[in-house]
Amino acid sequence: MQRLRDRVIVVTGAAQGQGAAQTAALAREGAQVIATDVRPPRSEPTEGTVVARSLDVTDEEGWSALAAWLRDAHGRVDGLVNNAGITWRARVGQVAAADFLRVQAVNTLGPLLGIQRLAPLLPRGGSIVNVGSSAALTGHYPVAYTASKWALRGVAKAACTELGPRGIRVNTVHPGFVETPMTASAAPAFRAANLAATPLGRTGAPEEIAAVVVFLLCEEASYITGAEIPVDGGLTAHGGVKPISDALRD
Ligand code: NAI
Repeated sequence: MQRLRDRVIVVTGAAQGQGAAQTAALAREGAQVIATDVRPPRSEPTEGTVVARSLDVTDEEGWSALAAWLRDAHGRVDGLVNNAGITWRARVGQVAAADFLRVQAVNTLGPLLGIQRLAPLLPRGGSIVNVGSSAALTGHYPVAYTASKWALRGVAKAACTELGPRGIRVNTVHPGFVETPMTASAAPAFRAANLAATPLGRTGAPEEIAAVVVFLLCEEASYITGAEIPVDGGLTAHGGVKPISDALRD
């Protein structure tokens, strides 16, 4: 049985990586996916109903145009996945103000604009999922990225409170290290340190994040809102004490 049959769901940053995996997973569940991105898709989805549209999540007019199109084409939207994101690997001492603001614009303002512009089209039972990061739960070194994802938690909490009375749910997933074009550019030491800190001892696949996103969009999650779900192989579960456990293991 398809769990999202005929549901209209918008995904941002859908051209590659996790957004592409979410798009494919949602289409398999019968959703009509509006796959948006600033760049064209790397590969065309092979299953289900997927419509690709151009959208820069920082562009207010772009969101308004998408909302107007959704109103005309479908009369509603049932779900939004705020997945688009960028990283910027500069440390506290080095980050330039312009880069800090650019990352906040995509990772924090973008999801807020999406919620603001699409919420009027969401019916009771609608669901919004934000893609945060394990960086939103820790003091991860790329400060612009970390700050943007902590701020996104605030956006999600406020939106959950605001939209709850209308029967709209707002949740956040926090991926750990996931194999996508974003992490392909990470230094080998970054990958190795992540693996050492991850109890499951491996990186994640985009499909493993997508499965949780799909669940949060489904009726099965009907009483879950304001929640934050790490999907990180246990990276953030041990609060930094894994090296102690590892050191004392027989
Ligand atoms: P990715 O870099 O492979 O894909 C990100 C997508 O977002 C790209 O298609 C890009 O074109 C799009 N994008 C960038 N700026 C945009 C804008 N202004 N408007 C619309 N689309 C834009 O990255 P990945 O890994 O798939 O990331 C997806 C989400 O997961 C992001 O929010 C990222 O911060 C988050 N995340 C990723 C982790 C990882 O290990 N890969 C870990 C934790 C969180």
